[in-house]
Amino acid sequence: MTLSRNTIYEGDAFELLSRVPENSVDLIICDGPYGVTQNEWDRIPNIQEFNLNLIREFSTRLTEGGALYLFGKPDCIDFIDYRPFLNLRSKIVWYQPSRLAQGRLGYTNNYDIICYFIKGERPRVFNLDDIRVPQLVELEHRLRCERVPSVTNGTYGKTKFNENGKNPGDVWGDIKQLTYRSKELVSRDALNTIQKPERLIERLVLASSDPGDLVLDPFSGVGTCPVVCRMNSRDYIAFEINRDFIDAAEQRLNSISDIQMTLNLYDTSNT
Ligand SMILES: C[S@@+](CC[C@H](N)C(=O)[O-])C[C@H]1O[C@@H](n2cnc3c(N)ncnc32)[C@H](O)[C@@H]1O
Repeated sequence: MTLSRNTIYEGDAFELLSRVPENSVDLIICDGPYGVTQNEWDRIPNIQEFNLNLIREFSTRLTEGGALYLFGKPDCIDFIDYRPFLNLRSKIVWYQPSRLAQGRLGYTNNYDIICYFIKGERPRVFNLDDIRVPQLVELEHRLRCERVPSVTNGTYGKTKFNENGKNPGDVWGDIKQLTYRSKELVSRDALNTIQKPERLIERLVLASSDPGDLVLDPFSGVGTCPVVCRMNSRDYIAFEINRDFIDAAEQRLNSISDIQMTLNLYDTSNT
């Protein structure tokens, strides 16, 4: 049976993946098990082997130049050889300074890793202008920098000061993890799963896909990626093993449809 776009399927991600045709997916957002929590689904004996199996499966499903973002802890791809399958371009550090847990015998881990892979040598899309973040330098400093030849004459404008903001780089401290007080939090349970902020997933989706592209989310939880896809005119196929999470995701998706319908009605009444 072929899978339909814009649907969340209930079941095991590996089984469902076998139904995804080769070279059919433009972007994969993989926020699956980390192998660190007490959740039943997160008890993975060897997270690196688990991730290597996923990378192998994903590589055949991606279109040429398609991207995979794989979430995990700092060691999530240590000592495995993913190179025959995909090309690792960046390890993005998602920095979370507000963690309460304080280690006593070592340094508290304050970040997750988002491994950015592509299939082949060149990304098919990288929409930098859609994900620029504010420049942190002050005006005076900027003016001083602009007189430096490497800044004024940067190749492809790479180092040149851009009024629209800068490349977010590979350490992201500007997007906070959700808390119990976050408006978008679906439930306290969802925080434990762990529900990701829409802004975080949106940055990945906007950078590595165009409207109409197909995004695969094999561990969709309460549906953050499908929600972001719908808000940004991308198609998605999502998998999730827990029926309650799928129900929560569908509720979120329905509420966006309601908002979009209201906006459309509003637009029509103004024309
Ligand atoms: C880190 S959470 C994803 C959270 C999601 N990004 C969000 O914002 O809601 C991982 C999800 O993977 C699901 N899961 C774990 N193992 C699975 C499997 N083998 N197949 C499908 N889903 C699975 C869990 O139920 C959990 O909801």
